[in-house]
Amino acid sequence: MPGAKITAMGVGVPPGLLTNQDLEKMVDTSSEWIVERTGILTRHIVEKGVTTSDLASEAAQQIIDKTGIDPTTIDLIIVATITPDMMLPATACLVQDRIGAKGAWGFDMSIACSGFLYATQVAAQFVKTGAHKRALVIGLDVMSSIIDYEDRQTCIIFGDGGGAALIEPTEEGEEGIIDFLHEVDGSGGEFLCIPAGGSKHPTSKETLDSKMHFVHQDGKVVFKFATRKMPELCVRLLERHGYSGDDVDVFIPHQANLRIISAAVDRLKVPMDKVIVNIAEYGNTTAGTLPLAIDTALNQGKLKKGDLVLFGSVGAGFSAGAMLMRWAY
Ligand code: UT7
Repeated sequence: MPGAKITAMGVGVPPGLLTNQDLEKMVDTSSEWIVERTGILTRHIVEKGVTTSDLASEAAQQIIDKTGIDPTTIDLIIVATITPDMMLPATACLVQDRIGAKGAWGFDMSIACSGFLYATQVAAQFVKTGAHKRALVIGLDVMSSIIDYEDRQTCIIFGDGGGAALIEPTEEGEEGIIDFLHEVDGSGGEFLCIPAGGSKHPTSKETLDSKMHFVHQDGKVVFKFATRKMPELCVRLLERHGYSGDDVDVFIPHQANLRIISAAVDRLKVPMDKVIVNIAEYGNTTAGTLPLAIDTALNQGKLKKGDLVLFGSVGAGFSAGAMLMRWAY
C-alpha cells in the first residue's frame, strides 16, 4: 500500500490589512496589550464581497499553475472551513466548479482550527487505499464574516486567509504522512461557539439583536485547554515513533496566540529556530493557519525535502490534533 504526501501548496490571502492601530480606534484596546497577550500585529481582511470560495479557488489555482496538473484529474476536494460562502451548497462544490475539477467529488469539513489536519488525514486515507490519486485539501476561513468588531475579546485575534495542499501517493521508500493523533472533547463546545444560525437557534430578529450569530469565546478556558492539549498530543505522537523534540526539524503549530505556541515549544523542547510563527502578520485564521504557516516555512527556506515535520492544532469543539510527516519536496 502506498503512503500519502503533500506535493504542492498554494495560498489565498486578501491584501487588505487590519492593524492593531486600526483596532484601537474600534474598541477599547491598545496595540501594546494585543502584542503582549497574543503576539499579533496585523490581520489580512477581505474587501466586502470576497468569499471563502474566492480565496480557496485562488489557492487551488496556484497549485494547478505551479504543478501543471490537469484539474480534471483531481479526485477529491475537501474544504475545511467554518465560514462557508453559504450554508448550502458546500464551498467544496463552488471551488470544484471554479477550478474546473470536473472529475472530483468533495465536501466541507467544519471542525474549526483543527480542520486542515483532520481534512489532510481524511484525504490521505483515500490516497493510501488507492481509491484516489489526487486530493485537494483546503484550510481557509474568512473570519471577519463572523466576528463582532465591538467585542475586544475576539476581534483582536482573528484574520482571513488560508491555503491549499495537494495530496498524492508516495513513491517507493518515501514516508510522506507518517502518523496522526487527533482528539475531540465535546464538553468544551460552549466555550467557543456561534450560538445562532443553526437548528438550535435559527436566525431570527432576536438572535441578531443579541449578536448570537457572532463568535463567542471564553478566552481563558480555551487558552487553558490549548496550552495543555496541543503539546500533549504532539509529545504522545512523537513518542509513539521513538522520537523526541530533538528529532523534529520543523514544528508547525496552529497560530492562535503566541503564548500558546510558546507553552507548546517549552514542553516539546524544540529549538525556537525550528518553529514556524507568522501570527504577527496573519493573526488566527482558524483552518487557515497551518497551510499559511507551511507557506511561510517554504518561503523562509526553513522547510526542505526530507525534514521531519510536526504539526499541532487546537480549537473549537474542543478539537485538537497532531500530525507527523516527512516533507516530500
Ligand atoms: O484558535 C483557537 C481559538 N482561540 C484561542 O486559542 C484563544 C485562546 N485565548 C486567548 O488567546 C486569550 O485568552 C485572549 C487573547 C483571548 C485573552 O487574553 P488573556 O490574557 O486570557 O486575557 P484575559 O481574558 O485574562 O483578560 C485580562 C484583562 C481583563 O481585564 P481585567 O478583568 O483584568 O481588568 C480583560 O477585560 O484584559 C482585558 N482585556 C483586554 N484589554 C485590552 C480583554 N481583552 C482585551 C483587549 N484589550 N482586547
